[in-house]
Amino acid sequence: MVITGASSGIGEALALELARRGWERIALLSRRADALEPVAREVRERGSKAMAIACDVRDARAVRDAVARAEAEWGTIDLAIANAGIGYPTPAHRFSLDDATAMMRTNFDGMLHLWAAVSTGMLARGDGQFVAIASLAGLRGLPGSSIYSASKAAMQAWMEASRVELTGKGIAMTIVNPGFVATPLVEKNRFRMPFLMQPRDVARRIADGIESRSRVIEFPLPMSLLMRTLRLLPAFVFDRLVRPWSRRKIDADRARK
Ligand SMILES: NC(=O)c1ccc[n+]([C@@H]2O[C@H](COP(=O)([O-])OP(=O)(O)OC[C@H]3O[C@@H](n4cnc5c(N)ncnc54)[C@H](OP(=O)(O)O)[C@@H]3O)[C@@H](O)[C@H]2O)c1
Repeated sequence: MVITGASSGIGEALALELARRGWERIALLSRRADALEPVAREVRERGSKAMAIACDVRDARAVRDAVARAEAEWGTIDLAIANAGIGYPTPAHRFSLDDATAMMRTNFDGMLHLWAAVSTGMLARGDGQFVAIASLAGLRGLPGSSIYSASKAAMQAWMEASRVELTGKGIAMTIVNPGFVATPLVEKNRFRMPFLMQPRDVARRIADGIESRSRVIEFPLPMSLLMRTLRLLPAFVFDRLVRPWSRRKIDADRARK
């Protein structure tokens, strides 16, 4: 299997959880080789094989080469998890096109680059699973997280359509929509994050859903219900309810890019 964004947070915890559950060959991708190595070591300590590959998911060729390396050693990838992601505010009135583009390219294009790299092998074999770590933030356009929401909504829409297109081809498409998780991604947040979860618990939930080939894995339940309710509200009610979120504070120095 291959997982992007494995050097930290949810990706790291999920790689370790899957190793604990007996997934034998795990290719770990992210930009920072030095941060991947300790994760690879821990995977090996759990009895699995690990390959740490420094790779920027914004670069389609780099992702293709990384997957080719893993396939050359281990054969076709059976499970691919598009987890690499970044998130920070991109307010419309202080807009940075560079920030917006970087986020779409990492979160959305990065997922497509992984699909492009693994799909030929999976389709030829008529078996495989593709998992996208999206977010509850993709279920509505959230002020303070506009491009982040857009990137996650794009992931959800693409995954949903592709899931149906792939019916009968032996490939499971699994969308994961977490709420707040205590990882470096949210260290910048200076507001209360309701129902904040720990990466290890999140990894267990995701691994359960992967192993049962779920279509959608969404948690925690109260946040899921909140977002699903917000989706049903008419625009003028939604606007009034979430307007204060535009003013939520973050520590710009801690925003990881
Ligand atoms: N934390 C939350 O509350 C939360 C909630 C919902 C969804 N999510 C999603 O969960 C996923 C993982 O986030 P996290 O919370 O675990 O954050 P994190 O701890 O900051 O981890 C992000 C990972 O993505 C990698 N990454 C970032 N840009 C990359 C690039 N261009 N190429 C390759 N790897 C890249 C980082 O590694 P390098 O720096 O080494 O490249 C790191 O391993 C993201 O997609 C995020 O949107 C998080």
